[in-house]
Amino acid sequence: MTAPTAALSNAAPSSDHTFLTDFHHVATIGATDNDGVDRQALTSEDKQTRDWMRSWAEGNGFEVRVDAIGNMFACLEFVPDAPYVLIGSHLDSQPLGGRFDGAYGVISALFAALRVKENVAESGQTPRFNLAVVNWFNEEGGRFAPSIMGSSVYAGLFDLEEMLAVCDLEGTSVAEALAAIGYNGADTPPEAISYAEIHIEQGRILERESTHLGVVESSWYTQKLDIDVLGEQSHTGATAMADRHDALVAGSKVVLAVHDITAEFDDEALVSSVGQHVVEPNSPIVVPRRVHMVADLRSSDPAVVIAARDLLRKQIADIARAHDITINVEDFDIREKRYFPEAGVELAEKAVANEGLSIRRLETMAGHDSVAMNHRVPAVMMFVPSVDGVSHCEREFTTDEDMVRGLGVLTSVATELVGG
Ligand code: GLV
Ligand code: MN
Ligand code: MN
Ligand code: MN
Repeated sequence: MTAPTAALSNAAPSSDHTFLTDFHHVATIGATDNDGVDRQALTSEDKQTRDWMRSWAEGNGFEVRVDAIGNMFACLEFVPDAPYVLIGSHLDSQPLGGRFDGAYGVISALFAALRVKENVAESGQTPRFNLAVVNWFNEEGGRFAPSIMGSSVYAGLFDLEEMLAVCDLEGTSVAEALAAIGYNGADTPPEAISYAEIHIEQGRILERESTHLGVVESSWYTQKLDIDVLGEQSHTGATAMADRHDALVAGSKVVLAVHDITAEFDDEALVSSVGQHVVEPNSPIVVPRRVHMVADLRSSDPAVVIAARDLLRKQIADIARAHDITINVEDFDIREKRYFPEAGVELAEKAVANEGLSIRRLETMAGHDSVAMNHRVPAVMMFVPSVDGVSHCEREFTTDEDMVRGLGVLTSVATELVGG
């Protein structure tokens, strides 16, 4: 089948086919064996998706800018000197991640913006604001922590120089990795007036309730704990059991404490995990000297996370004492619970109603670029259903039909935000 070339419009989305073709094409970049993708920030796979976006955008008449932290903006200037409505998400992924998390938001934003452009050309009416599609740098934070990095720098929440100095586990800095793939930009980013993002839900509320779209009212309070367990390296054979200060044994008890702490609170009030865990020196014949891990605590209620964190600190101090080793614990990457503006929620609801679809309000437990952008400008965050609610894994899935529905809604929201 050949791609339709007829004029695009929101009412008759002749580009749905092209959108799906492009979405599934991008999913081949960094494809894994089981239908996922592995495109961690600033790897060669990330570079390939960035190059794809650049050539798509330039080929469709957008001007591409890259700022100093590697955020990419595909700009459509309708009104000289007017601020920009930004729409987008991220093209990076978790290791062995899903095809949809982030990429869906960027690719649908490109097609939504193209439809707005064509509608402006057809109608001859100049909008109030300009429009740019953004691919935020390092939303996932798997390689360079903290996550949501590019949008947080843009929103003024993180310091640019500090983030450029962040290193991955191999000791490569963000600045070096950006330069290595040629995305250490020097462009001034467009000045935002508002922000909209569409994303997969990553939970199962929409699926369970057979609802087409979700609109986010608030984001959960989230925080990480950087935990450094410092034992003593020795021989696994020759050291007497009583003489060992095994960082992995103590660290394992910390992992269990982080998991078990959720039982102290009401059902599902708190979620927590240790996602990252590094053992040194990691040899079969060596009692580990160090375990470094990051715990992630999240709740809708900030007081629950704070209480859990305080309780955990006490439990970890007890573990350190029992094993006669040092465990350092630092708070890290705290994100306040924050409400999204009611006007944006209603805008999404109106767009969905106009298309005869169903929508419900919900909270986001996952972190998003919109959570950072909501500190800087009014932000609208929308979700399409996730099959089985799974994400950050290869099994992540959303149907073509749901993706196309979301694209239509994002197009309506973007059209309203730029102003007719
Ligand atoms: C990142 O994907 C997050 O949910 O914080
Ligand atoms: Mn995401
Ligand atoms: Mn993610
Ligand atoms: Mn996320």
